[in-house]
Amino acid sequence: MSMLNDRLSALEDYPFTRLRTLLTDVPAPEGRAAVDFSIGDPKHPSPALLTEAMAAAAESWNRYPPIAGTEDWRQAVGDWLAWRFGEGGRLIDPDLALLPASGTREALFMLASACVGSMSGGSQPAVLLPNPFYAVYVGAAQMAGAEPVFLTADQRLGFLPDLDALPASLLDRTALFYLCSPANPQGAAADIAYLQKALSLARRHGFVLAVDECYSEIYDRTPPTGALEAAAAFDGGRLDNLIVFNSLSKRSSAAGLRSGFIAGDPTVIAAFRRLRGYASAGMPMPIQAASAALWRDEAHVAENRDLYRAKIDAAERIMGNSLGFYRPDGGFFLWLDVGDGERAAERLWREQAIRVLPGAYIGRPAQDGSNPGRSFVRLALVHDIGVVADALARLKGTFSAMAGD
Ligand SMILES: Cc1ncc(COP(=O)(O)O)c(C=O)c1O
Repeated sequence: MSMLNDRLSALEDYPFTRLRTLLTDVPAPEGRAAVDFSIGDPKHPSPALLTEAMAAAAESWNRYPPIAGTEDWRQAVGDWLAWRFGEGGRLIDPDLALLPASGTREALFMLASACVGSMSGGSQPAVLLPNPFYAVYVGAAQMAGAEPVFLTADQRLGFLPDLDALPASLLDRTALFYLCSPANPQGAAADIAYLQKALSLARRHGFVLAVDECYSEIYDRTPPTGALEAAAAFDGGRLDNLIVFNSLSKRSSAAGLRSGFIAGDPTVIAAFRRLRGYASAGMPMPIQAASAALWRDEAHVAENRDLYRAKIDAAERIMGNSLGFYRPDGGFFLWLDVGDGERAAERLWREQAIRVLPGAYIGRPAQDGSNPGRSFVRLALVHDIGVVADALARLKGTFSAMAGD
């Protein structure tokens, strides 16, 4: 028997590790500053109120933080949910249906452990996830002992999984369905009908629908519909089977704060809280204080959104309709169809010192063997607009040259 968990060694290398491996022996051109578009690591400055609120709460570093969050934090997030999602947000009782998460990554991961159990009859539980995906969903499913089931989310389907194509036999053994809206990487936002259909499947087949909304505040023209809004306007306005996640990482350019939340069905939240009692530390109180201040302020979010929108505008001017450019509904990624994402990533690094993520690394072969990410690269438009515009113009030049190869 191995000393280590075979589920862990069965995980593929994380996408950024794979990219490092791909580019290890590929030299970037000398004298060119490297531009890293591969990671969605925000570069806009965090608002000053973050550090002010954190400093003002410094006297609480000596205490263990409450897992359920401070009353102030719960109130701030509860108020934000009600402001942002109206009736849907008001479905959340901050004392029963909401918990802090030290970054949504860990909460997304841990939710699988709270939801996936053994099944009667010995069949393996399934966790559904979009393909391409945020890699944490796959790790969460596999480490919890579930079969990750990859649902193709390509252009034909508006970059969302086809809910009508899911067989009942699969849905019956599904424990959890991760949905990302707006989606990383494609930026597609699910509409209310889509979310309600997913929720009705969750209720009919007894699984948890987990909607990852961490890009919900970086939108283009209209605020994406939240899953809580969909729940409020459907089937008696209940939270049953629904969990949503949101984060300050992108909304407030505060990825280093490690601060988000998980909210939804109180039964699931209670189980999650029980698990957290064993598995993780609470969010430190000065971080809760800073988080509460950020959730209470929308001015910095609007400014942040404007900065991203200006970059998408610039990208639209530069790219036109080449490489399948389109404006994402939300998020800050471009998902460009370059024919062969891995080859393009190599070439962009070698010729332009531009680092992009091959779409194949955040996808898996579908049943027909084709990886829906294969022909794409993902670009996170996190740098200043000048850097973005210059790099995109060079990227476009490289692909025009490739076309002429
Ligand atoms: C789709 C998606 N969900 C969740 C996260 C995690 O965000 P955080 O842990 O910073 O809250 C990310 C981060 O890149 C993401 O892209």
